[in-house]
Amino acid sequence: MATLPKVELHLHIEGTLEPELVMELARAGGITLPYRDADELRARYAFDDLQSFLDIYYENLVVLRGRGDFAQLAHAYAARAHEAGVVHAEVFFDPQAHLVRGVPLVDVVDGLVDGFEQARAEFGITADLIACFLRDRPVTEALTTLDELIALEAPIIGVGLDSAEVGNPASRFAEVFDRAKRAGLRSVAHAGEEGGPDSIRQALDDLGVERIDHGIRSIDDPLLLSRLADQRTRLTICPLSNVHLNAVADIASHPLPALIEAGLHVTINSDDPAYFGGYIDRNYDVVVDAFGLDDEAVAALAHNAVDASFLPDTRKREIRTRIDEWLSVPESGAVPGRLRW
Ligand code: HPA
Ligand code: ZN
Repeated sequence: MATLPKVELHLHIEGTLEPELVMELARAGGITLPYRDADELRARYAFDDLQSFLDIYYENLVVLRGRGDFAQLAHAYAARAHEAGVVHAEVFFDPQAHLVRGVPLVDVVDGLVDGFEQARAEFGITADLIACFLRDRPVTEALTTLDELIALEAPIIGVGLDSAEVGNPASRFAEVFDRAKRAGLRSVAHAGEEGGPDSIRQALDDLGVERIDHGIRSIDDPLLLSRLADQRTRLTICPLSNVHLNAVADIASHPLPALIEAGLHVTINSDDPAYFGGYIDRNYDVVVDAFGLDDEAVAALAHNAVDASFLPDTRKREIRTRIDEWLSVPESGAVPGRLRW
């Protein structure tokens, strides 16, 4: 059965660190952890909100110390994403979360590049890197991190903004994003995950970002909704993340169908799949099941991600053709609408 070719645009590489890999890297690095095995760690993955998730997410990073660890992490994600049909991913990483632990930036970047290069040779999957700044840390630190990335000539295509949204307004980072743009970088920001419509407006007006990560709280503001529809702002939606962090009560009450109805350009992504119960294929599955999407609707979501990507036009065309081929192949004897994406 053919798998829908997918582009993933909202994926934190650190959020792909599976409990089994945490244990393996800890063992290899002689690091003592406060739990016996992967199951005991996984049992802690019940989150009240974004912050309770971030606490564990940052804690687990202790096992990522050298270039080889980052290479292993990137390769493991790419292998799993390939299985899910991902042909291209624009991958977030958090440089400051490693710099503060004393891990050199060059090792982080080179390790990720090693892992993705190996995966490209094996599976044909491509990946581009986006460096995210932590909005709950000082702006000065974001500025020096950006300068270091530029000085290293790190192969990043853009910058983003993540971590705790509420109480950490995007507007503080205007100078960082301005400097990044002058260096030729693309830009995105998390906004409207837990923060309200104003958080999304700040990301657009004060940072001038090209995509909004999450953006689901735009549903609370009809004026903002019209603006996002009119200017074709792309949203990277992460359904399972929103459920697991209680940004929505359950999948049935997710605003995805209402956002589509309002004419917004939405895409489906996995955010931190090791923590939120599944990779991008499962995120497609849950919205198909919850909202009864047919193949055309699913292919439209996949096309949206191609359009919203920072890929060159030639590669976009190639992936669009593959999506259209997927749509044109009739399902033979399969349960309608199931197990194809
Ligand atoms: N939201 C904000 N910051 C993050 C996330 C997220 O889901 N994952 C990693 N950093
Ligand atoms: Zn995210």
